[in-house]
Amino acid sequence: MRLLVTGGAGFIGANFVHGAVAEHSVTVLDALTYAGSRESLAPVEDDIRLIQGDVGDAELVNRLVAESDAVVHFAAETHVDNALADPEPFLHTNVIGTYTVLEAVRQHGVRLHHISTDEVYGDLELDEPRRFTEGTAYNPSSPYSSTKAAADMLVRAWVRSYGVRATISNCSNNYGPYQHVEKFIPRQITNVLTGRRPKLYGTGANVRDWIHVDDHNSAVWRILLDGEIGRTYLIGAEGERDNLSVMRTILTLMGRDPDDFDHVVDRAGHDLRYAIDPSTLRDELGWEPKHTDFEDGLRATIDWYRNNESWWGPLKEQVEAVYEKRGQ
Ligand code: NAD
Ligand code: TYD
Repeated sequence: MRLLVTGGAGFIGANFVHGAVAEHSVTVLDALTYAGSRESLAPVEDDIRLIQGDVGDAELVNRLVAESDAVVHFAAETHVDNALADPEPFLHTNVIGTYTVLEAVRQHGVRLHHISTDEVYGDLELDEPRRFTEGTAYNPSSPYSSTKAAADMLVRAWVRSYGVRATISNCSNNYGPYQHVEKFIPRQITNVLTGRRPKLYGTGANVRDWIHVDDHNSAVWRILLDGEIGRTYLIGAEGERDNLSVMRTILTLMGRDPDDFDHVVDRAGHDLRYAIDPSTLRDELGWEPKHTDFEDGLRATIDWYRNNESWWGPLKEQVEAVYEKRGQ
């Protein structure tokens, strides 16, 4: 296939592209914002075409879509804390960017897979048995999740109104190599590696449902190849853990006292718990995650950050300076 991967220089997109080049011809469209980098694509730089550009640039997107058999749309502004500080780029990239991709695939009749998040469903109580399913009502809490929800709604409307051939997936929290050091797990790992104390928001009772990035991407492939047009699939790996436990596990795996971290100011409107019921994906498309041992996945991720300081080192100071200003 000739694949157009938007946001392919970011965390999940880059991991996806690494796996795609063996069998497909890949063009990456990425604005190379602070969150994207050429270095993340260095292992495959000779095998891909990397176009630096904005997913909201209709002329560019139209041209690239016309040359493609399928589009996998990862490009987004993704960090909740940044969205709280300045929502505008989230409106542009997540909403207008998705609209621009939709108009291009509509014009050229190209298959689209739209990548979204479980955060569109809002949050759950800690003790309720319910998890998110494809039927859960949208109830986003943050400028990030509300713009992702808006994008999903556009995709659904373009399928229904214009017959666009699109699928959507809403995945839980990813971890693994090439994740920006502003995010929870890499931030704590690199805090330890740079002699800083890890930082936990509030009490750390908030629960996230962790999945290894390779498992997310293997599910995306299942949906892209065999998913039913117009459907939404939830991707998760039964990985619910509270932030305090994840923090203590990271510290233990890195040979530190598990309580050697700081409690910092909590996030405004902090979603309490996300949890995905992935049974539809398993039952209908036969997908299974491979990285089912979270500690093993975390250990490998810690090793990756230990061995790739040249990738994250240049970003670290500035990220921590921004957090410090926010009291976090
Ligand atoms: P990321 O922030 O690491 O990467 C986003 C990429 O998009 C970057 O390379 C950035 O340069 C690019 N980008 C941003 N604005 C752009 C624009 N206007 N035009 C073109 N490119 C632009 O994000 P990620 O964690 O890899 O997330 C990728 C997708 O997966 C997003 O759609 C996100 O909502 C979704 N998702 C992420 C997670 C997670 O845990 N990280 C979980 C579920 C869903
Ligand atoms: P994050 O990686 O920002 O993902 P999201 O908010 O999209 O789930 O944060 C994951 C969880 O970790 C979230 O509950 C906020 C918390 N957190 C911390 O406790 N400390 C930190 O330094 C960061 C960045 C996040």
